[in-house]
Amino acid sequence: MNFIKNMWYIAGESEDVSDSLTSRKLLDENIVLLRDAGGSIIALENRCPHRFAPLTLGRREQDGIRCGYHGAKFGFDGQCLEAPLQTPPKDCGVRSYTAIEKYGYVWVWIGDGDPDHEKIPSAFAVGGDKDWAGFSHYELEIPAYYELFNDNLFDITHAPYVHSDDFDPDFLTQFSGPPNQGTPEGPEDGVWVDIGSDRITYYVQAAGSEDPFFQNMLAAARGESEYRAAVHMQLQVRWMAPCYFSFQTKVTATTEEANEASIATTLMALIPNTERQTSFYFMSRRNFAIDDAHVTDMFRNFIMKTFIEDRAIVTAQSANMTSHDVNGDARPLMFVGDIVGQQGRRIVASLSD
Ligand code: FES
Ligand SMILES: [Fe+2]
Repeated sequence: MNFIKNMWYIAGESEDVSDSLTSRKLLDENIVLLRDAGGSIIALENRCPHRFAPLTLGRREQDGIRCGYHGAKFGFDGQCLEAPLQTPPKDCGVRSYTAIEKYGYVWVWIGDGDPDHEKIPSAFAVGGDKDWAGFSHYELEIPAYYELFNDNLFDITHAPYVHSDDFDPDFLTQFSGPPNQGTPEGPEDGVWVDIGSDRITYYVQAAGSEDPFFQNMLAAARGESEYRAAVHMQLQVRWMAPCYFSFQTKVTATTEEANEASIATTLMALIPNTERQTSFYFMSRRNFAIDDAHVTDMFRNFIMKTFIEDRAIVTAQSANMTSHDVNGDARPLMFVGDIVGQQGRRIVASLSD
């Protein structure tokens, strides 16, 4: 299993963490989250060192957590403060994690190295930008290995089949063949991919798309009920290893001389809980129809529907495999549409412990 340590992982939305005890699992590590009296996030190992009871079954006290099994008490720095029938043994405590709040999420540093704030994906900054429309964010639990969902998000060829209500098979005809290297210089049709040591950017664009999803988005941006002409569309996907995606969709009318692009961004995080359990966080932001709740609903409905469709196929795919490792004993058939996802797999493998 390819888990990358010394990395930030989302443990929840800011509002998920309160004064009471919340449990999370990140990369197979059990964590209890809460806020101290000043509102700062506390993240501790959720396992008592005595007989390994989860501390979330205990109770929060003013200055610590008391284990619900034999009553040992741990301060917010993890240090054991009280033990039953005795003073706490030397070096008794639970592990403390660095946790911060940024862009609406709680991020926990997993690994022994010093927390590196540069590693929080900068693409997520749009999530905290007040000039963009109010976002909606949700969480889905996926009973599958996170890289299977990475593969899904790197691949456009499933769109007309898994999301057949929203994408037509003709959608793919403009993009046949392997992707071009680098970044597009003009509005021509095609797919480009730009690969770094820990990130991938790829572009899918069409100078005259008649796909309903892009037409509906442009109609919403123009305040119209429908838009039937061809649109310029560009999807820019930025992925940061191991599990963070920004999908920026830009649509522009082809029929007018100068018109501003309407941009919608979906931010996604596929947080590995265990080898076969992933928490999927996402939020949607846009630069148009800022105050229009109907447009927010349209995006919420579309995004929820497509991700639930993705979850269904990825869950069924995972259950049909003996190993999560598509490059191992499963030996899959490879198509051109898998090229970008394979590069992502290579990067994750190169950065894993
Ligand atoms: S298991 Fe926590 S005090 Fe015994
Ligand atoms: Fe999908």
